[in-house]
Amino acid sequence: NSSGSIFSIDSNPTPVTPGERYKLLQNPVFGRVFTDHMATARFTPGRGWHDMRIQARGEFKLDPASLVFHYAQEIFEGMKAYRMPDGSAALFRPDANARRFRSSAVRLAMEPLPEEIFLESVRALVRIDRDWIPSAEGAALYLRPFMIATEVLVGMKPSSDYLYCVVASPVGSYFKGGAPAVTLWVSENFTRAAPGGTGAAKCGGNYAASLAAQAEASREGCDQVVFLDAVERRWVEELGGMNVFFVFDDGSLQTPPLTGTILPGITRDSLIVLARDMGLTVREEPYAIDQWQADAASGRLREAFACGTAAVVTPIGKVKGRRHDLTVGDGGAGPVTMRLKAALLDIQQGRAPDPHGWMDRL
Ligand code: COI
Repeated sequence: NSSGSIFSIDSNPTPVTPGERYKLLQNPVFGRVFTDHMATARFTPGRGWHDMRIQARGEFKLDPASLVFHYAQEIFEGMKAYRMPDGSAALFRPDANARRFRSSAVRLAMEPLPEEIFLESVRALVRIDRDWIPSAEGAALYLRPFMIATEVLVGMKPSSDYLYCVVASPVGSYFKGGAPAVTLWVSENFTRAAPGGTGAAKCGGNYAASLAAQAEASREGCDQVVFLDAVERRWVEELGGMNVFFVFDDGSLQTPPLTGTILPGITRDSLIVLARDMGLTVREEPYAIDQWQADAASGRLREAFACGTAAVVTPIGKVKGRRHDLTVGDGGAGPVTMRLKAALLDIQQGRAPDPHGWMDRL
């Protein structure tokens, strides 16, 4: 194995030509375009983790009774590799994704993937597909590590066997047309996660369960759904696929606390650190939807934004619902939001120093 990695490189696909790739990299729809390769590994009880390969991206052959098709034992991650000013590649906080992938596995009773194998898989894939990393402002190579249960059984138990895989997709803005500010729909009919449930795990099931609410949001002309807590239907939790922050007139920030029903976002965590670096106060405290309405009306709330690996930092302009209708600030992008977004992107795209050691240069 000449790659120096625990992942062997065992096939060369017929790569697209540089000209074709250049075209595919121009403003791709989020998650539609994929690179030439994928990383895979398997777990079986007798052999442990084995068969770690970088291979041509292609189809899986799976038995229809594989457990994942029946009981949704599936977890995933979302992370990005960036093109640095000197042309090299770097990952943002991949160790944090590796850790979260482990805890998601534990919650779904799946075999935890050792963090070193996770890190090696994404590094090896980015190295071989480095020409696919876009260099436009805000663009990146989105990596999607995931793991599925492959034991052939329709009985109800944790799978004995697993398939781990990483695919990569060059992306620009998550929202169509790079929306300057998004509109949210308050879901009154659906909740995302209940205490004791899987809300803090990054499992496909959480996202499947959010789709009907997200479809309702789209029918109402909104970009994202905002979920309230399942117990009181009062506290703002998160959006369909991203966390949420509020910015007040005293310059302080607030975001819902990680009490087990919210996805512990790595972008969320990074923004808390960056805001505190700027001398801003950040509270991790519950925020009620009716308070949001009142604070928007009184002017106490100046800005709100969504954040995530896919969404980066996206201003929230308006919120609508059966009982709510509000505009945040002037409905556009606020100064604190844009300052935090720039601080994050400057580190991720290698324009600013990296005081927290977040960038993993390849
Ligand atoms: C991400 O931000 O990486 C996610 O996994 C969210 C998904 C809606 C794309």
